[in-house]
Amino acid sequence: MKDVAGKAAFITGGASGLGLAMAHSFCAAGMRVAIADIEQAALEKAEAELRPSNAEVLALQLDVTDRAAMAQAADSMEQAFGKVHVLCNNAGVAVNGAVHEMSYPDWDWVVGVNLQGVINTVQTFLGRIKAHGEGGHIVNTASVAGIAPHPGLSVYTTTKYAVVGLSEAMRLDLAGQGIGVSVLCPGMVNTNIFDSGRNRPAALQGERDTAAIALDEVAEHEGAAALIEELRRNALAPTAVGDMVLHAIREDEFYVLTHPEYAEAVATRHQEMQGAFGRWRQHRESQGI
Ligand SMILES: NC(=O)c1ccc[n+]([C@@H]2O[C@H](COP(=O)([O-])OP(=O)(O)OC[C@H]3O[C@@H](n4cnc5c(N)ncnc54)[C@H](O)[C@@H]3O)[C@@H](O)[C@H]2O)c1
Repeated sequence: MKDVAGKAAFITGGASGLGLAMAHSFCAAGMRVAIADIEQAALEKAEAELRPSNAEVLALQLDVTDRAAMAQAADSMEQAFGKVHVLCNNAGVAVNGAVHEMSYPDWDWVVGVNLQGVINTVQTFLGRIKAHGEGGHIVNTASVAGIAPHPGLSVYTTTKYAVVGLSEAMRLDLAGQGIGVSVLCPGMVNTNIFDSGRNRPAALQGERDTAAIALDEVAEHEGAAALIEELRRNALAPTAVGDMVLHAIREDEFYVLTHPEYAEAVATRHQEMQGAFGRWRQHRESQGI
């Protein structure tokens, strides 16, 4: 979508971190922006921050797991801006821990926000974007944890692989319809993600209901210490990622892989898969099946 000026974007998790950075980049490019977030105080602060850009800004309190509220947010957005062109499915939370340490509330909270929240937004908005016929672009925020496995981040990794899968499916399904798709897979970015627990609902508190992802605790898992050191060293400023997302929308870039240092981990995973294809081909040949 080369011409973004005047187009309207809906950003979930828009009151902080990556979502707020996208809002800043979009406002600077002359877009109209709705930021949707569960945290009212942060929304008000973000709205005040964005106003001086002279862009049209709308702040909507929204829990992405609430389908009725999502439909209301879409109605409010259309009332304010007429149409929605760009959808950024970005709200996300994290809980640390290996799979055997997770509780049902851990799964329900993180899957609810990171995956079901994205599904709810797509279900609510995609039909509306298709209906106006002007085209658009959808950006799904996944993570490097969606393209290579990370120790000690079991639930989070599950949701992010799912978001990458959904994005790849959407790209095929929407090909030729004037609606581009991008999947954002950042490594470490300096945001409030480590304080995700601030938005954890009382009903979904679990045994591991720590407010923060304690990096040092993740480091207890085998192989994780070096990874965390690398994460810290390579943390990007959110503003840089906001600009990369705008670039991806304009250039219709699918994979937004902001941290090239993960290329090797992805290659290793793919090599293992290629090896497995080869071995199972031989197995089938040897069995005549
Ligand atoms: N920061 C990183 O290093 C990093 C790396 C890879 C991927 N990500 C992803 O980036 C996205 C944005 O996270 P961030 O790093 O900016 O963190 P952040 O905590 O700064 O921002 C996340 C926003 O989502 C909102 N949110 C949480 N639960 C919500 C809900 N139920 N409904 C609506 N809004 C909700 C929060 O209030 C917050 O404003 C997430 O999907 C995260 O998984 C972050």
